[in-house]
Amino acid sequence: MKKNEIDHLVVEWLAQAKKMVFSSSSRKIMVETKTSRNDLVTELDRQIEKFLVTQIKNVFPTAQIISEESHPKLDEFDPQQLLWIIDPIDGTMNFVKTRRDFAIMIGVYQNNQGQLGYIYDVMNDCLYHGGPEKGVFCNQQRLLPPANLSLNQGLLETGALMLLHNRCNLQKIALASNGVRIYGSAGIQIIRVLTGQAVGYVSHLKPWDLAAGRVLAETLGLTVKTIDGHIPDVLSSVDVLVASKNAQEDIVRMAQAPY
Ligand code: IPD
Ligand code: CA
Ligand code: CA
Ligand code: CA
Repeated sequence: MKKNEIDHLVVEWLAQAKKMVFSSSSRKIMVETKTSRNDLVTELDRQIEKFLVTQIKNVFPTAQIISEESHPKLDEFDPQQLLWIIDPIDGTMNFVKTRRDFAIMIGVYQNNQGQLGYIYDVMNDCLYHGGPEKGVFCNQQRLLPPANLSLNQGLLETGALMLLHNRCNLQKIALASNGVRIYGSAGIQIIRVLTGQAVGYVSHLKPWDLAAGRVLAETLGLTVKTIDGHIPDVLSSVDVLVASKNAQEDIVRMAQAPY
């Protein structure tokens, strides 16, 4: 199947997923804790995930799928076949507490290369989508590569715990920026880097947190590297940085400096 045909299907599936979100808005959602009281999963996470996995399998019966809540690992991995990586709701805590600032995300990879990425900011009805063959769009609007700003010329996106614990010298890095923003969703924060509203996003991410944003960021000429400057493995959990090239150099240098 050609990429534009896959694209067409995914856009349709995400429109259906949006309907699931809105049809749940007037009722109480079941919430469970996973590893701690701040690690939540809701019935909507599970419902959207099941829907997307079913749709993919209907069209691609042998698809390789990694998805946060029910398929977090692959038993076998053939890099030559399409790999689908799904985060059914990124920013579950935001979804539970505010019903805003969450995203549905899908990344499609082959031969360890990103082919297609989707970050759907549901409440703003903005679908960021694209890949190396077609460029990156917000709905129908094409995004231009953001300016190659240095760390001291822009805002830094990160996660609260990473900053509070000063992982990777992050407090020093934050002080060198124009300010820190923390929104509680990797997808929403990566969008801010894609659109040039922030120069970089630093966080410890699982494969489903990064897969979609990585395709879009790399297509726009942004760098996606581990905090020590290496290319992240698509299937690993890593301290990762999505940034302009100049900001990436600044951040990697400062992250390596002695505390
Ligand atoms: C989380 C969010 C959060 C990030 C965490 C992720 P989830 O995703 O993206 O911003 O700091 O590392 O796990 O669990 O809401 O899909
Ligand atoms: Ca989660
Ligand atoms: Ca996530
Ligand atoms: Ca999630």
